[in-house]
Amino acid sequence: MGAVLDTTSRHGDNRETGWVNRLFNREGYTPEYQELKFTLHRKLLDRINLEALSSMAGERVRAEIRAAVAKLVEEEKTPLSLVEKDRVIEEILDEVFGLGPLEPLLQDPTVSDILVTTPRLVYVERGGKLYRTPVEFKDDAHLLRIIEKVVSRVGRRVDESSPLVDARLPDGSRVNAAIPPVAVDGPLLSIRRFGRHALKGEDLVAKLAMTEGMLELLKGCVKARLNILICGGTGSGKTTLLNAVSSYIPEDERIVTIEDAAELRLQQTHVARMETRPPNVEGTGAIHIRQLVINALRMRPDRIIVGEVRSEEALDMLQAMNTGHDGSLTTLHANTPRDGLGRLEVMVGMANSNMGIRSIRAQIASAVDLFIQTSRFSDGTRRITHITEVVGMEQDIITLQDIFLFEKTGITETGKVLGRFRATGIRPKFYERLKQCGIALPPQMFQTVVEIS
Ligand SMILES: Nc1ncnc2c1ncn2[C@@H]1O[C@H](COP(=O)(O)OP(=O)(O)OP(=O)(O)O)[C@@H](O)[C@H]1O
Ligand SMILES: [Mg+2]
Repeated sequence: MGAVLDTTSRHGDNRETGWVNRLFNREGYTPEYQELKFTLHRKLLDRINLEALSSMAGERVRAEIRAAVAKLVEEEKTPLSLVEKDRVIEEILDEVFGLGPLEPLLQDPTVSDILVTTPRLVYVERGGKLYRTPVEFKDDAHLLRIIEKVVSRVGRRVDESSPLVDARLPDGSRVNAAIPPVAVDGPLLSIRRFGRHALKGEDLVAKLAMTEGMLELLKGCVKARLNILICGGTGSGKTTLLNAVSSYIPEDERIVTIEDAAELRLQQTHVARMETRPPNVEGTGAIHIRQLVINALRMRPDRIIVGEVRSEEALDMLQAMNTGHDGSLTTLHANTPRDGLGRLEVMVGMANSNMGIRSIRAQIASAVDLFIQTSRFSDGTRRITHITEVVGMEQDIITLQDIFLFEKTGITETGKVLGRFRATGIRPKFYERLKQCGIALPPQMFQTVVEIS
């Protein structure tokens, strides 16, 4: 019945629709198909007895609803093939129980971001690259309904008076929604998914994000309680790396984590987690990272982990690092370690405008031991491009020393980035500190070069 389900692709511009088609088992919707699905969905809501269903166990509810939808489909005048019947039933179940058209994308573990730009333009990121999908919402109202479903699940709301909202899905994925008036062409939805299993240090080595030697060094630095700042651009893998390296914190330490949207998944048992809070309807009651950092100091932490420093909290974080809470970890938006230093200076300056630049730098130089820089390359790969030590101050300038670098050497015809991980030959100043903590690294590791081909 081709009239309802259009099988001619309308996404010829997407060279990689293959995987999407396998996922959906179809190539596109016609307005008639959408209409049919919605009519059925409406009829279903009219017919089902929600009260009776609420007392049933989850699996039984699904079975009951499946049966009800199947019955509605049978009553439908439009003839549907068996495959089409199954599809419409599944999609209505997705509307009732899940996030509607987004469900197949959410169930695909290779999808890392879902980006709804308009009801008819849904993109995903896979392997570091963006692809347009054939997923569509019926209209703005449909998209808005799904957004409301996400935010109401976590006790938040979204409307004209608070058109921006961050939320989290039950699987830990981070959701951001922006609706009119701030969203110009209709609701916008961005979902950052986290794979079922967080990437571990070994996984990052396997993905060529760093070498084994670099991982050994980072493990040692975490165990020896160096204060570490992970820098990188948007989506370059900062949080992933923070998660991975935090797993080397010994199990007997008390960790306090502070985040805007809880994304960290620490392996340890003794973890006290805190999250910021947005303002309420009256615009008051917001709790910022800064207050949580100050609060964390009263919680007898062995380590403080801040998901990302963006603002004034940088000062409190540095003070914490300088007053015995070493071994702290955080991330920062910056394109190079030197740029990261500059950003820190600005953030500290925002917190205390009376501090001169020299004392700000002295504070930074004595607090931060190590920068790790992450980058996303044009072929979608994410790598550590710098492991850089903060050596100290020379007059008014903070001295940095690169220990490991990734150097891009070229690009293949297919767009793959070539390069090498190179140790700079410099043995870090903290080498002795690691040794004192019983972490003996072979000195020759600071001489290695690993080509990526
Ligand atoms: N080395 C890697 N190899 C492959 N995928 C990676 C790697 N590092 C991170 N990713 C994936 O890239 C995506 C972005 O990672 P992540 O959230 O850690 O980035 P981020 O820099 O913290 O982003 P944001 O700026 O939005 O906070 C995630 O889906 C993650 O699973
Ligand atoms: Mg992040």
